[in-house]
Amino acid sequence: MANIAVVGAAGYVGLAYSVSLAAFGHRVIGVDRDPGRIWMLNDGVAPIHEPELPELLQRGLATGLLTFTTDYATAIPPAEFVFICVGTPSTETGAADTSAIVAAATAIARQSKGRTIVVNKSTMPVGSAQFVADILAEHAPSGVTFTVVSNPEFLREGSAIYDIFHPDRIVLGADDLDAAHAVGDLYNTLNAAILITQPRTAEMVKYASNAFLATKISFINEVALICDQLDADVDVVARGMGMDARITPRFLHAGLGFGGSCFPKDVRALAAMARENACDSPLLNAVLDINAGMRSHVIAKVRRRLGTLTGATIGLFGLSFKPETDDIREAPAISLIEELLAQEATVQATDPVANAHIAARFPEVRLAADAYGAAMSADAVILVTEWPAYRSLNLDRIANAMRGRLVVDGRNVLDPGKVASAGLVYEGIGRPRNEGAGTRITVLPEAEPLRAQPRPESVIDSHPLASRGD
Ligand code: UGA
Repeated sequence: MANIAVVGAAGYVGLAYSVSLAAFGHRVIGVDRDPGRIWMLNDGVAPIHEPELPELLQRGLATGLLTFTTDYATAIPPAEFVFICVGTPSTETGAADTSAIVAAATAIARQSKGRTIVVNKSTMPVGSAQFVADILAEHAPSGVTFTVVSNPEFLREGSAIYDIFHPDRIVLGADDLDAAHAVGDLYNTLNAAILITQPRTAEMVKYASNAFLATKISFINEVALICDQLDADVDVVARGMGMDARITPRFLHAGLGFGGSCFPKDVRALAAMARENACDSPLLNAVLDINAGMRSHVIAKVRRRLGTLTGATIGLFGLSFKPETDDIREAPAISLIEELLAQEATVQATDPVANAHIAARFPEVRLAADAYGAAMSADAVILVTEWPAYRSLNLDRIANAMRGRLVVDGRNVLDPGKVASAGLVYEGIGRPRNEGAGTRITVLPEAEPLRAQPRPESVIDSHPLASRGD
């Protein structure tokens, strides 16, 4: 059992790690500057919507292994490990804002009492392990020493706890191998590959991973736009691509694109790091542009069908940036609402958990309890976030509620045939207008043994490129 302090414990990453590290059997004190949230947490109430979080929070409090405070002087002195989990939002230039990291490192340095390992868990610009080590050294009382280990997180909102317990890998960046192993030991109840590397490389693994996943999404979205013009089906294209083991079908779902507090911010930050270091990053810039373009594409679809948006009533199903979270940061819904309001449409929207956040930001949006309410007298509806409830809508009820006929499926999750059967007009993203005989996906069982057979000898095998392994 280790004594751990988690700085930024009321945020997504900090809270998910606080409850999980306590569940691993460590003694955890979470510290955060938000007194309202700390008060809720000590009361056993999770301030964010995240599956399994409330259960682990209550278990941690009940066992006494988990406590929360706003006071660094309580949290830091007993800690052998301090996790930095504060936010690094985008600045105006797209670079990461490191002011919360500076504040956290300064406070940690002033309160530490002995040898402390500081774990950089927040997504921080490359070079931050050294940056944090310098701040710690500058403010440390004499006799107090620090070692910094970069240990990026790979959690998805909505399955953060699952991801902590089932990591694909644990990445540790440190110049001090003993410190890296000590941090690795905190996770020894997990069955995961550990990659130990230099701090800068570990920091780059995080940015490159997020940028690559965002690139997959923008790639398939660009293909979807071409499919829209050529009357091909992007979902089947993605499936066909994904059957290639080198590609995999994951993160190839075409639609309104990525949002949230990570992909947009991290792709921008990586592009900014490239720019600041005289490197071009045309691919990263294209990924962001394509993503923004998906929102405009959906608005254009609706405008084309309705003729004008002025005076139209548009229903939005789903407001959070993805299902199973109430987070609306950089959610596609935000851009859609802004554009619809700018064009003087009336917006009626609904989300299972994010209505209150939208109400606070857009008082002019009419919020409904469910999709049927958001569809009431609407000229068109747009499925924005693929919450499970919206996959199995009673389409006859939607059709009866609406004034118009148009259903734009911004996540390609509805069955176009069923939408048409309810008397509605379906528009997906990169889905064919004329389904013809429809698509039957048949994987022939004979295909397996055929694939398993050794490759026949060919000239390719003796080609110099054949040894590259790709
Ligand atoms: C992402 C990464 O997946 C995590 O590995 C990473 O740790 C995290 O960022 C972070 O940096 O903290 P998250 O933003 O929670 O996690 O959500 P994702 O599930 O990755 O989805 C991101 C966005 O991409 C969502 O808006 C989602 O709707 C969209 N998306 C995802 C697509 O449009 N198509 C897809 O095929 C997949």
